Amino acid sequence: MDVQATDPATARHHPFSGVVVTTKLHVPTARPGLVERTRLHAILAGGGPRKLTVVEAPAGSGKTTLLAHWQTSEFESRPFAWLSLDEADNDPAQFWTYVVEALRTVEKGIGAETVAVLDGREDNVLELALPALVNELAALDRQLVLVLDDYHAIEDEDVHEQLAWLLDHLPPTLEVALTSRVDPPLRLARLRARGELVHVRAGELRFNVEEADEMLAGLGLELEKPDVEQLQERTEGWAAGLYLAALSLRGRADAREFIDSFTGDDRHLVDYLAGEVLDEQSADVRRFLVRTSVLRRLCAPLCDAVTEGGRSLELLAEIERSNLFLVALDNRREWYRYHHLFGRLLQLELERAEPELAPELHRRASEWFRSEGHVGDAIHHAAAAGDLEAAANLIADNWMSFFNHGRLATVAAWLDALPAKAVETDRRLAVARAWVALDRGRLDEAGHWIATAESVASGELESEVAVLGAVHRFKIGDVGAARAAAERAIALESFSATAASCILGITLHLSGKDAQASTELARAVGLAREEGNQLGAAYALGYQALIDVSAGRIEAAEEAADAALGEGTEPGFAQHFVLTIAHLAQAEVNKARGHAAAAEEHAARALELSRRGAGRLELAAALIALAEARQAGGDVDSARELLAEASELVERCPDPAGLAGTLADATRRFARPRRSRDLSLRDELSDRELAVLRLLSSSLSAREIGNELFVSLNTVKTHTKAIYRKLGAASREDAVERGRELHLI
Ligand SMILES: Nc1ncnc2c1ncn2[C@@H]1O[C@H](COP(=O)(O)OP(=O)(O)OP(=O)(O)O)[C@@H](O)[C@H]1O
Ligand SMILES: [Mg+2]
Repeated sequence: MDVQATDPATARHHPFSGVVVTTKLHVPTARPGLVERTRLHAILAGGGPRKLTVVEAPAGSGKTTLLAHWQTSEFESRPFAWLSLDEADNDPAQFWTYVVEALRTVEKGIGAETVAVLDGREDNVLELALPALVNELAALDRQLVLVLDDYHAIEDEDVHEQLAWLLDHLPPTLEVALTSRVDPPLRLARLRARGELVHVRAGELRFNVEEADEMLAGLGLELEKPDVEQLQERTEGWAAGLYLAALSLRGRADAREFIDSFTGDDRHLVDYLAGEVLDEQSADVRRFLVRTSVLRRLCAPLCDAVTEGGRSLELLAEIERSNLFLVALDNRREWYRYHHLFGRLLQLELERAEPELAPELHRRASEWFRSEGHVGDAIHHAAAAGDLEAAANLIADNWMSFFNHGRLATVAAWLDALPAKAVETDRRLAVARAWVALDRGRLDEAGHWIATAESVASGELESEVAVLGAVHRFKIGDVGAARAAAERAIALESFSATAASCILGITLHLSGKDAQASTELARAVGLAREEGNQLGAAYALGYQALIDVSAGRIEAAEEAADAALGEGTEPGFAQHFVLTIAHLAQAEVNKARGHAAAAEEHAARALELSRRGAGRLELAAALIALAEARQAGGDVDSARELLAEASELVERCPDPAGLAGTLADATRRFARPRRSRDLSLRDELSDRELAVLRLLSSSLSAREIGNELFVSLNTVKTHTKAIYRKLGAASREDAVERGRELHLI
């Protein structure tokens, strides 16, 4: 549950500090002197039913350079959207937000709905965000290419699954191209079989002798043909190796001997060559390179802070001029990073030469990023510095604004980076863990973290923990306990007064105290509107509409439900689970007026929305409403199935309060099979089903019944479903009662 977006009741004013890092969207500009790889461009340029291009090869093979070149090639006219991925993108909400941002660099304003629903539950990605994006893309009148550079940085299974889904549903207006050092886990077989995949591998990326010659010439080196051949052979045409060799060779008279002197594997070659290159630098440049290697991206002010120097601007320019593996991340010469291989080598050098310095460098970096509002980087460097307290404080101060933007995996990753003990003993962090679990629908895990937060001896966040407890207990269907917790939270003057009032109003309603419930809900609407929390207001208004309709105030109910549905204007608002309640009320209003079709439509919508994160009791209420609508329309089978699901849910609720009555009423109202059919029921139930029915009257669980009859749990479930359907029963109890009536048991 999301404090603001998913659980609107608890919205607060937290400006979102996670800015879009535009350097990630920068198309690497081809430096002059690069080799045009025409044969590869011809393979890459569109045509045919192509959906995906994979460029897969080890580090430094020229993947990124190839794709950057491709878009400027004469064979290509489509606009390119570029996204450079890194470890922080292992969060579905973040990954897809950046994909949309990348697409927006070529297609302004695309993806508004996609981004809006990314703020919510994780399942939204596949259910809402990507379908919305596919529809928008399909409507474009030209083709785009989306480049995902460094896809090997992604390890999150959900992101892989989501990208695979996108590829399966890709409209002809988009082609995806990705680079990766490893085979991407994306179910490529189907694409390949349909001829929709182009896979470029290390072998094809290798520089041949002519290309090697051209690269060396581009760097101002004129070598004899045999030397070039030997160099190409020694490096196996590996781009980074050739490049490093060229840098090392500059200004050397003994080219031949130097080339002769190196052999060995890639790893060795890089260390050797980069060592050579590093050795040639002035002491100043060297120190600068080594000390700034702790940074994942660099700009002059940051480097000044980390090195406690004042010449970073100058040094960066000098390093860039000498082609020292500095990759520009924007067009303004502001942000850079080291090429991966070179950066790793610099880090090794730091570990070797000044190991005691690393924590201090990270600490300075963390401080700089914090003061600039880059929270993720600040946390990363604090943790790398081993400063757990600083990392914990940063997380505690910032998790909520990320959480409110759906970055659950990001918050989870920050917490994962700390030792378990640090989280368990810090109430602020346990609360963060609990919210993340709640929003992911992991109710048991949330319960565990709430209990942990409750057990930490601390006067802090008393009311936060109470609100959390109230929301959790309501979600699992423990009405009495939820009400008590909400009352406690209100008494503690919680920051999240809206949430507490909502839960209190709802639980009062479910306990049959509608007058008090209305007062509390009105307060919740007022509070929510005051803080600009549209979802919170819509939630409370929806419940008011339900109260009105149950009291026969149809007009008032309609008004409140309309107000709830009209409360928000943002894209994505209408897709939120809190609108379940307003649609339920609309279903009741329409039923009361005899508009059966509209009633069914609203009930169906309520059920759809409720599956996106509503509490158990709300989901059960939606199931019952749709079951009744289907029953009224004569679709008895579907009605029974829905009612059976509702009753299963209610059975799992510790204290379903009023909903138990609603369910019982619905079950009773359901028409029984006519008498004339009763006699034939004994025949209709198979012997197996009769056996299961008999055991259903015992206290055995479904699994135990299976053991008794030597069949699997699934078989028992199938028989049970058939029994329910044939007997017109909505629950186990109901089936047994019915079986007794008919003398079947
Ligand atoms: N076409 C080219 N012409 C000249 N040099 C090239 C070319 N392609 C690659 N290189 C050199 O090889 C180096 C590595 O290339 P690139 O960054 O494209 O590799 P990569 O496969 O993307 O590596 P990584 O997996 O680390 O991202 C570059 O810094 C560049 O100097
Ligand atoms: Mg690359």
